[in-house]
Amino acid sequence: MIKLLDDTDLERSLRADVQAGLTASPKSLPPKWFYDERGSELFEEITRLPEYYPTRTERDILADAAPEIARITEAKTLVELGSGSSEKTRLLLDAMLARGTLGSFVPLDVSATFLSSSVDTLVADYPGLSVTGVVGDFAQHLGHLPDGDNRVVAFLGGTIGNLVPAERAAFLGSLRQALHPGEWLLLGADLVKDPAVLVPAYDDAAGVTAAFNRNVLHVVNRSLGGDFDPSAFSHVALWDPQQEWIEMRLRASTAQRVRITALDLTVSFAAGEEMRTEISAKFRRTGLSSELAAAGFELRHFWTDPRSWFSLTLARAR
Ligand code: SAH
Ligand code: AVI
Repeated sequence: MIKLLDDTDLERSLRADVQAGLTASPKSLPPKWFYDERGSELFEEITRLPEYYPTRTERDILADAAPEIARITEAKTLVELGSGSSEKTRLLLDAMLARGTLGSFVPLDVSATFLSSSVDTLVADYPGLSVTGVVGDFAQHLGHLPDGDNRVVAFLGGTIGNLVPAERAAFLGSLRQALHPGEWLLLGADLVKDPAVLVPAYDDAAGVTAAFNRNVLHVVNRSLGGDFDPSAFSHVALWDPQQEWIEMRLRASTAQRVRITALDLTVSFAAGEEMRTEISAKFRRTGLSSELAAAGFELRHFWTDPRSWFSLTLARAR
């Protein structure tokens, strides 16, 4: 494993984010902090929920498109950003290995413990493939990706939608800088659709997404000596038709004060006050194509499912 972030770096950046987010108006916390070990497990549980269509839809698209992706890219190195369990990525690994081009796989994730167990499983299941986990932040560390020739960078699951537009442009720009002309980005992005499908995917009947949302409060409590009472916050998921994103919030059920010891900070919440914890933007092909072009990528292939719910784009660095 390569560690571009250690526990001290993570704590420093959590402190900065919590200080900024809880003193802003309206309050917010970045979604990156959902993913301690428990948060990563809750996300995996979300992927199996009946309402959460993105994972299974992207998997179906990948199952069809992987051999074509392997043929077009002739990938020697596959890098995966925000790799999580790399479950669906196995479809790409299998197709690229069958093609005979792939030598190494580099999953990068901020969630160190979960990454480490995913890497152990992959090493056991893919003897002969070099697997190097990188603990890092895809918003900071793209300049440190292992060099290699003919790299394909996969960014799956719709995680690009968790970046606000300015972060997205910065991310795509630095990814382009990190690649040589001719290398590839494989991007999974969720598409705009009926809110009657979108909203339940982020507000499931079993309450798993609510637990995932509240998990960020447990992370702050444990890492920064906070005294949030997670049960005093309710889960909110709403569709913003102007921005075309789902917004997740935590709503304070009652007026309350929260102490964050490591920051020497006390914050007040009014009854009903909402704090943004995540956006999950949904895309259209035209928007994706122009954002990619602005960053120096050319959209070469675009796959979707029969209902046009999710998309997989293969873009080439110009
Ligand atoms: N790609 C997987 C997992 C998606 S969940 C899938 O498609 O199912 C989002 C993943 O991104 C989590 O594993 C989380 O730990 C990781 N992540 C979130 N913010 C990150 C950041 N800034 N840098 C690196 N990884 C990040
Ligand atoms: C990781 N990311 C793409 C998920 C999403 O759908 O935006 C995170 C998530 N949030 C709530 N449910 C799942």
